[in-house]
Amino acid sequence: MTIPEASTVVHARAPGKINVFLKVGALQDDGYHELATAFQAVSLYEDVWASPADDFSVEFSGSIDTSGLVTDGSNLAIKAARALARKAGYRGGVRLKISKNVPIAGGMGGGSADAAATLLACDALWGTEASKDELLTIAAKLGADVPFAVTGGTAIGTGRGDQLSPALAKGQFHWVLAVAEFGMSTPGVYAELDRHRERHAQDIFPAAHQPSVDANVLQALRAGDPAMLAESMYNDLQAPALHLAPGLGRVLELGEENGALAGIISGSGPTVAFLVSDSDSALELQVALSALRVHAVRASGPVHGARLIHA
Ligand code: C5P
Repeated sequence: MTIPEASTVVHARAPGKINVFLKVGALQDDGYHELATAFQAVSLYEDVWASPADDFSVEFSGSIDTSGLVTDGSNLAIKAARALARKAGYRGGVRLKISKNVPIAGGMGGGSADAAATLLACDALWGTEASKDELLTIAAKLGADVPFAVTGGTAIGTGRGDQLSPALAKGQFHWVLAVAEFGMSTPGVYAELDRHRERHAQDIFPAAHQPSVDANVLQALRAGDPAMLAESMYNDLQAPALHLAPGLGRVLELGEENGALAGIISGSGPTVAFLVSDSDSALELQVALSALRVHAVRASGPVHGARLIHA
């Protein structure tokens, strides 16, 4: 893909995320579940270049196979650009070029990062000067994870996961991500959790139950202590994801047998995130997993949210 030159091109970047803790509460009337999650933005990025056009288009490239991605109006980046144009009363369009590095349908918020970076890029390209709060309001309508891709860092998400409050975090955490060759449908994994809870009625959350993030997670993040975080990581979507894709259980074992402090399914999966103690251990685990034919990439966090690289 050739990246357009000229001063009319705006480049923005947004990160993928790992949910180091994710508790799912009751299913709401709007089809979403009440969540309590701790997000960490990590150093796998989506890059968006926006240039002027009469209508809206998107084209993908990147370190991963992007051939299966939709590029019509149902694409989240196009929806983001259209939503901002509508809100700002902008009558033109945009040509988006997106370079992807976050696994597709992997539970790491890659599509959400595309949308977040697109909002920033279009805002700068069109001179709409939306405030951060306005961008966050549009982001929340696009998807539950989009606001976090805008803010980045480390944050607690409640509501659908879109109501954010920053969490104190010290230092850097090092991750090795086992990337699957297949994607998983987020609604499908939530639906599997609901089916499981219906089958095992005793597991059903009382309607009034408000999930919350475990205090040990907050303390581990605050202390920058990977061993403590490893002990307290948790994901309610892990069991349904493993039920739908049982092979991921072996991937979790391989990481833990080869030096990970702990492994967790990222979001709704299928990416498996392994927490390690430092960058040397990350390299060792990546090499070990690669030798076992598990595609693994390294990342660290927290990193900043969506930002302009060049305007
Ligand atoms: O908002 P987003 O498009 O990322 O959500 C995808 C789907 O995941 C939703 O349609 C819903 O089925 C499920 N979901 C949920 N509860 C949440 C977030 C997502 O049930 N808090």
